[in-house]
Amino acid sequence: MIHKTSPEIGGMGHSIKRKEDLRFIQGKGNYVDDVHLPGMVYGQMVRSPYAHARLKSINTEKAKKLPGVLAVITGEDLAKANLAWMPTLSHDKQMVLATGKVLFQSQEVAFVVAEDRYTAADAAELVEVEYEELPVLVDPHKALEPGAPLLREDREQKDNHIFHWEVGDRQATEQVFQNAPVKASVKAFFPRCHPAPLETCGCVADFSRATGRLTVYMTSQAPHAHRTVFALVGGIPENNIRVISPDIGGGFGNKVPVYPGYVCSIVASLTLGVPVKWIETRSENLQSTGFARDYHMTAEIAADRDGKMQALRVKTLADHGAFNAAAQPTKFPAGLFSICTGSYDYPTAFCEVDGVYTNKAPGGIAYRCSFRVTEAAYLIERAVDVLALDLKMDPAELRRKNFIPPEKFPYKSSLGWTYDSGNYEPAMNIALEKIGYKDLRKEQEEKRKKGELMGIGISSFTEIVGAGPAHSFDILGIKMFDSCEIRIHPTGKAMARMGTKSQGQGHETTYAQIVAQELGIPAADVTIEEGDTDTAPYGLGTYASRSTPTSGAATAVAARKIRDKAKKIAAYLLECNENDLEWEPGKFYVKGSPSKSKTIQDIAFAAYTNIPPGLEAGLEAVDYYDPPNLTFPFGTYVCVVDIDKGTGEVKVRRFVAVDDCGNIINPMIVEGQIHGGLTEGLAIAFMQQIDYDESGNIQGGSFQDYLLPTAVETPHWETDKTCTPSPHHPFGAKGVGESPNVGSPAAFVNAVVDALSHLGVKHIDMPIAPWKVWNILKEKGVAA
Ligand code: CDP
Repeated sequence: MIHKTSPEIGGMGHSIKRKEDLRFIQGKGNYVDDVHLPGMVYGQMVRSPYAHARLKSINTEKAKKLPGVLAVITGEDLAKANLAWMPTLSHDKQMVLATGKVLFQSQEVAFVVAEDRYTAADAAELVEVEYEELPVLVDPHKALEPGAPLLREDREQKDNHIFHWEVGDRQATEQVFQNAPVKASVKAFFPRCHPAPLETCGCVADFSRATGRLTVYMTSQAPHAHRTVFALVGGIPENNIRVISPDIGGGFGNKVPVYPGYVCSIVASLTLGVPVKWIETRSENLQSTGFARDYHMTAEIAADRDGKMQALRVKTLADHGAFNAAAQPTKFPAGLFSICTGSYDYPTAFCEVDGVYTNKAPGGIAYRCSFRVTEAAYLIERAVDVLALDLKMDPAELRRKNFIPPEKFPYKSSLGWTYDSGNYEPAMNIALEKIGYKDLRKEQEEKRKKGELMGIGISSFTEIVGAGPAHSFDILGIKMFDSCEIRIHPTGKAMARMGTKSQGQGHETTYAQIVAQELGIPAADVTIEEGDTDTAPYGLGTYASRSTPTSGAATAVAARKIRDKAKKIAAYLLECNENDLEWEPGKFYVKGSPSKSKTIQDIAFAAYTNIPPGLEAGLEAVDYYDPPNLTFPFGTYVCVVDIDKGTGEVKVRRFVAVDDCGNIINPMIVEGQIHGGLTEGLAIAFMQQIDYDESGNIQGGSFQDYLLPTAVETPHWETDKTCTPSPHHPFGAKGVGESPNVGSPAAFVNAVVDALSHLGVKHIDMPIAPWKVWNILKEKGVAA
């Protein structure tokens, strides 16, 4: 049971204002580029203009002669220290600086260090690199053809295939398909996109020759994991490395991988003995750091004539770029993509994925997504709409017919996941009711008679978040628990530290609320600290909506350990038996005599001043929490669009999002998370793609082509919720941060296709730019 706390305490369920915003709105945030150290110098990357080329020579002489230049590091220099390549999180390796050849446009070729940024940038222009162009592969299908140019000559395997992975029952699924009366299929491409956080990546590496310690200030979503990687790869004792992740201006998975810029800055600082700062430009960030998606997918659904789904078959080609650097810690090569059965009760299913190398930047990060869940949710929600079209059934009705029923939870999916809890129909009902679904369908019918185009799109997604558990997740062998350490000071104020790292999600507020909930100490009296490996307990960081399911859980468990000790102290102070005490947030009192009580503040003071015999002083606890399962948030999103027949422009008229992330810590923060994620989903659906031409030139490598939605393009989001607590989480919460990004692309696309379905349109690939719609309207003869 969750006790209600007063607004003064501000535990779970209170929309208290974000503590961190006080400094942010005053411009007093402390980002990596705000770090200025005495004697600091600057690094600049030299990058390849070619997507595939042999490196014939690199001449650094002119650059080195420029006054103010301190060093120019090349791949060959790094090779001498065995640092030319580094391991990736997906059991591949990746060049730090190119040796032998380059494999994608903008690849890192040399690192120039100079006394100031401008000199470093000028000197980078003076590095002379001779390239011999090689044939380029940008299409993953072509990369698999026999005779395709071999990209990774360093591998034993002499083709461009990375992995084949399959899950489910191939035979049983095929059998169902052979006999099924209805088969619907969709071929959907989820384009390469990029999180484009407001703050690009960067670091300040500071090696002190006096102490032998290396301090790295960096844009890291996982400071401890990065420290361990630096220790393992660089051979530096881990106790001599301190990673500090200060304020981060958005991460979205982009700040999980280790990038060559970090490694080169560290090498330069170790070599020169001075702090080295490296900050990416916007284009460098878009062109070379972790992209997302790039999945070519096919889904087939076998069903009865009345719409009951019988089987799902999914086949996917995953374009990983030049290195398999997917920043994903699961033991499955395609991450959690096998959540693709979604919210539906499939008796059988089969899913296979092949990974391929191409001449594109490496990555495959979990952009606001738990490792390929966005792709999976998009695919199944698109496929269900195609089935509805084929059957001429209402898409809401079809979903209702096939939802996993509430009594089947915990539910074992045919692809192996155990969904913790779910209740899908109420969420959909609220969304449909709120948007006025029945009336909208009538309006659509009338509009169609008049030749006007409007569409309604539904997405009833199921998410999977909260990595660990340790048995299925690790980063270079390190298990994916997460942690919290709480210290209560004598005056009853508290400090708590976690192994996660906020990038704008409001952890300083919500973690304080968890402590407030569990101990009754006002959230205002609880200071939260993350991101410093010298002080925070070991943890695996923040991405994939894992903070609440892991560190959030650890916070509650650590607080409960403190409460257990506090109870002993209270019993001593009240001269009674522990069993005679009752708890309400903030105090223990004697059963039946509420006036005989001790507040948590009284108890904290006693923990340092009047310690019960046999008990050690102090009031603190630490917990490393390995979740028994993932959490499975869900929701239904409904979108209404109008299409301009004169321009092909799609206007989102309304968007209702009903989310269920179990028990909520801070409703205002959750709503903010949903607004942000929906806006990112809108951008992906309509505006964004990192594309490449035949020569491997990036199209979309700057904000001129890779568009960000502003307030002008962003519609008004209408939100609501249901609450189905997670049965295994200490306070019944599920993650929420990525749900809107996972669930919304299908709602947008389904709405556009719905507007055009009577013209025979079954699918349109994202991004749905006006020109694409306009071409369809022209082809169908309905353009105005
Ligand atoms: O890992 P990350 O912080 O990105 O994701 P999350 O755990 O989904 O949390 C995002 C924000 O929403 C955090 O500030 C959470 O504490 C908050 N949240 C909440 O208030 N209630 C929930 N049930 C889930 C998240």
